[in-house]
Amino acid sequence: MPLNILGVETSCDETAAAVVQDGHRVLSNVIHSQVELHKRWRGVVPEVASRSHTERILSIVTQALEDAALEPDELDAVAVTHRPGMVGCLLVGMAAAKAICWRFSKPLIGVDHVQAHVHSGLLAEPDMPLPALCLVASGGHTALYHLHEPGRSERLGTTRDDAAGEALDKGAALLGLPYAGGPSIQDAAVGGDRAAHKFPRTLLDKGSLDFSFSGLKTALLYKLAPPGKPKPAAPPSAAEVQDLAASYQEAVVDVLIAKLRRAAQGRGVRSLCIGGGVAKNARLRERLAADPHLGSLRLVMPPMSLCADNGAMIAGLGTILFRAGAVSPLDLDAVATAQTDGKAKVRRRTPR
Ligand code: KG4
Ligand code: ZN
Repeated sequence: MPLNILGVETSCDETAAAVVQDGHRVLSNVIHSQVELHKRWRGVVPEVASRSHTERILSIVTQALEDAALEPDELDAVAVTHRPGMVGCLLVGMAAAKAICWRFSKPLIGVDHVQAHVHSGLLAEPDMPLPALCLVASGGHTALYHLHEPGRSERLGTTRDDAAGEALDKGAALLGLPYAGGPSIQDAAVGGDRAAHKFPRTLLDKGSLDFSFSGLKTALLYKLAPPGKPKPAAPPSAAEVQDLAASYQEAVVDVLIAKLRRAAQGRGVRSLCIGGGVAKNARLRERLAADPHLGSLRLVMPPMSLCADNGAMIAGLGTILFRAGAVSPLDLDAVATAQTDGKAKVRRRTPR
C-alpha cells in the first residue's frame, strides 16, 4: 500500500500544501507566494502574511488533494510546519492540518521547517549517499548541517547576524531593486563585472563554520553613500547597478562556497545538498557545479519548486518521522525558534 502524506507549510510568506507518496513521489506541490503583497514594505509583514494564509489555506490544501487525485480519508497522515516561523503564520497551517486530522482521524506530524530544508535533497534524490553536508540558505536562515541519516542531523554553523537571503534583500533595497532581493540582484547582475567592486568576504575565525553577512551590507551602503561625504546627487546608473549587483552577489556566493569547502574537509561526507530560497541562485549553482574542491561529492541541487518554501519538503520529512513512529498531539504548539539538535522527537504512535 502506498503511503500518502499531506504536507502543509505557512511559516513565512508562502501558503503551500503538497502530497508526497512513499517519501519521494511528489504527487502535488501547490505554492502561493505572497511576494507581491509584501513588495511595498520590502519585507514580510507578519500580520499581513497570516491574514493572507487564512484567506488561502483551504483552497491550497484542496488543490493539493485534487492534483494528487486523493480524498482526505486516503491520506496516511498530515505533516505541518510547527516551527520555526512567525507564530501567527504557523498557527494558520496548523489549524488546517489539525482540523483534517480531527475530522478524518489521521495522525498529525509536527515538522521543523529548517530540518525539512535539510532533508529536501533526499526528497529530490532518495538515493543521495549519506552522510551529507547540507546548506540551508534563505531569507531567515543560513546554516550548515551534517546529515548523518534521515531524521538525524547536526548543525555545524549558523549565521551570527543576517541570513544570506536577508543580505541580498537588503542589498537590493540599497540598490533600488525590487523585493525579493535575491532574484532582483541575480537579474541585475547579468552581464555585470563581478570584479568591479571589492566587497568583504567575512570568514570569521579560522575553521569557523558560522556566517556573517552584516559587514557586506554595510560595505555596500558605504560604497553608495560614503560616510562623512556629501550625499551623492544621483542614484547609481543602470551600468553601475549591474556591476555592483554582480560584485555583491559574487561576495555572497564566495562566502557560501568557502564555508562548504571548510565543512567538507575531513568530515567524510559523501554528498552536498543545498536548500532554501537562496539555493535557487543561478550563480551559486553554476559555481558549485564547477568547484574543484567539492568535485568528489555527489552534488544535489533540488529543483526550484523544492528549494523555496513548499509543502512537499514538509511531507517528505513528515514521512521520515511517520516511519520512525513520531506523531504529535493535537494540541501541538507553534514555536518561533528552530530545533537546535536536529533530532526528530519520536513519540510512539498509539494504535488507532
Ligand atoms: O526559503 P525562502 O523562500 O523563505 C524563507 O524561509 O526565508 O527564501 C526566501 C529568500 C529571500 O531572501 C530571497 O531573496 C531569496 O530567498 N531568493 C534568492 C533567489 N530566489 C529567492 N536568492 C538568490 N537568488 C535567487 N534566485
Ligand atoms: Zn524556508
